[in-house]
Amino acid sequence: MELANRHLLLGITGGVAAYKAAELARELQRRGATVQVVMTEAATRFIGPPTFQALTGQPVFTDQWDPRIDNNMAHIELTRRADAILIVPASADFLAKLAHGLADDLLSTLCLARNCPLLVAPAMNREMWAQAPTRRNIAQLQADGVRVLGPGSGDQACGETGMGRMLEPAELAEDIAAHFTAQRLAGRQVLITAGPTFEPIDPVRGITNLSSGKMGFAIARACRQAGATVTLIAGPTALPTPRGVARVDVRTARQMHDAVMLSLADANALADVFISVAAVADWRVANASASKLKKSDDGQPPQLVFAQNPDILATVAARANAPYCVGFAAESEDLERHGQEKRARKGVPLLVANIGHETFGRDDNELLLIDAQGSHRLPRASKTELAARLVQEIAGRLAEPGRSSASR
Ligand code: C5P
Repeated sequence: MELANRHLLLGITGGVAAYKAAELARELQRRGATVQVVMTEAATRFIGPPTFQALTGQPVFTDQWDPRIDNNMAHIELTRRADAILIVPASADFLAKLAHGLADDLLSTLCLARNCPLLVAPAMNREMWAQAPTRRNIAQLQADGVRVLGPGSGDQACGETGMGRMLEPAELAEDIAAHFTAQRLAGRQVLITAGPTFEPIDPVRGITNLSSGKMGFAIARACRQAGATVTLIAGPTALPTPRGVARVDVRTARQMHDAVMLSLADANALADVFISVAAVADWRVANASASKLKKSDDGQPPQLVFAQNPDILATVAARANAPYCVGFAAESEDLERHGQEKRARKGVPLLVANIGHETFGRDDNELLLIDAQGSHRLPRASKTELAARLVQEIAGRLAEPGRSSASR
């Protein structure tokens, strides 16, 4: 779990978004963290400490003079155990205090006494967010090394719409997890294909496959968490877009090919890495009908004629100045030999074979990495964990001596 063994101090200040901190506490624990809650007096007007006590299984602190800490050093004791302090929500008033180093209650005092990173999730009315003092305070906090998460834009509890809306708990949890992820792909551009393709027979029918897109989406997320700028070209799937990933939806193999080529032609986003996870249809229906095919009176079924689709991966790998290319393969037997053959045929440095062909749609997987040196196995794990392992492997290969500093 990505936040295993992390001790997070969750500071809650006075704002209506305080109720979302309860969901965040759960989300952080689900990812393996232990969560210690400290609330300001104003926060307790919005949500009660027992809620957090019950959710986290830890006593909640609100008072600098809490008799449960025998030396009256709550502000020191609590921060020394923390890997990070998260202020969720961070009110305009609390941000102003932080920016000026005020320490007049337990939470502000322990922020000043901390020796760990501080992350804040502002939440306030759009006018409060836009005001010069708040702008100054945010700039000061950023200059001081405080990570500011959000805010987003949208409906506000006051009935207005605009900037200042706190990020959702799931978004905050993603950003917090990224904070603890080694930024192995910082500054890199990664292009990924994922999911199945759909080849029409007529306007309502088509040929597709059982790819769920889960592995490709997990890899897109892992690359993003590791600091890369990620473009994800996805065939038809209902999966949610990973946070911070630019997604392009396509249906057919040819659309996927065109979207990949368009992305590679973008001089401002030259891909360093191309990871081809999509289960691309090898053939399309060459005589697809523009209108719905009807049963014929003589009972004869339609005759479909197939045409070969472009091999996107091989085309990208053959380009001059190609990005570092990673292919996927689903072989049923003699994985290593077939994998090496496919690696050579596609012209890619790294091929990732699914071990066993029952991977489609599952949440776990087992992989065999095949490169010029041979092969090694990534044992069965969740697709999320495997994606993180694969990112390490790719980042390690990018950093190998001999690859140009431009990394391409
Ligand atoms: O040839 P095969 O389909 O087994 O190769 C699988 C690898 O090639 C995957 O990485 C897949 O995304 C990619 N591929 C492609 N375009 C195709 C067929 C496969 O990019 N038309």
